[in-house]
Amino acid sequence: SNINLQEIHDFLCDIAHKAGEIIITARPATSRTGSKANSAELVTETDKAIENILNEKLRERYPDFKFMGEETYQPGDTLTPAPTFIVDPIDGTTNFVHAYPYACISLGFTVDMEPVVGVVFNPFTDQLFTGIKGQGSYLTSPFHKREKLPLRDLEPFDDLSKCLVITEWGTERSGHNYDVKVNTFRKLCADKKDGGAMVQSIRSLGSGALNFCSVAAGSVDLYWEGGNYAWDVCAGWVILKEAGGEVVDANPGGWQPKVDGRRYLAVRGGDGWEMIVKEFWGCVEGELQIG
Ligand code: IPD
Repeated sequence: SNINLQEIHDFLCDIAHKAGEIIITARPATSRTGSKANSAELVTETDKAIENILNEKLRERYPDFKFMGEETYQPGDTLTPAPTFIVDPIDGTTNFVHAYPYACISLGFTVDMEPVVGVVFNPFTDQLFTGIKGQGSYLTSPFHKREKLPLRDLEPFDDLSKCLVITEWGTERSGHNYDVKVNTFRKLCADKKDGGAMVQSIRSLGSGALNFCSVAAGSVDLYWEGGNYAWDVCAGWVILKEAGGEVVDANPGGWQPKVDGRRYLAVRGGDGWEMIVKEFWGCVEGELQIG
């Protein structure tokens, strides 16, 4: 196709910076926060305002492409092979609401349902993660200028107990899926003498897109979550793949997730990743029923 991915990438970087200014200067009031499904799934006026701006700018510049965004999504909408922008105006809304400086704008672009451009910008730390299919992924920040990902040498995988793992509580906190999550967290952390894997530690910082970028950087070995939507993962997905990492389904045995499949295990690059994924599945207690 004659789609110019570099030009799309540059345009997305530009609008991510503009949206970042809005995020930095907004002062979200908890009282004006709405909730979608429950008290853990937040949406603010700022999320909606930024998505409207993104939508307008993208439609104006690329009128033929489709648009999928967190705030305009309707249940039943599905990803198609057509060129599609998949955007999350604020990934890490809970952090944003609490002024915890770990949130980002996540802008992805898919062709044939595959993420091919990803831009993730944390305006609080001025960190810009970018990736273009076939061209590598990069971190641009005041400290890193423009550095190719991963940021560290990827040692071969050895044992799950040497891994730093990200899990998220997510918004689903009841029933079967909650039990699977909590039992899995427990098994990952517990001492080996109690039947656990005793991973080095667990992090839960509250932004799926930035989590993917941490795995891409090689700072984190694995990220496991059920419940993300396409806009939480699309941009981070291509950034991770271009850094040599892999994405598989969060359920044991599932190697091919869909970008809108809602269950993900992301693993950094490095020899032995298939083995570490199998070892991880040994800790997944049951199956997530999130479709
Ligand atoms: C959320 C964040 C969070 C993850 C949730 C997402 P939002 O996105 O990525 O880390 O645990 O599954 O919904 O709602 O802040 O855009």
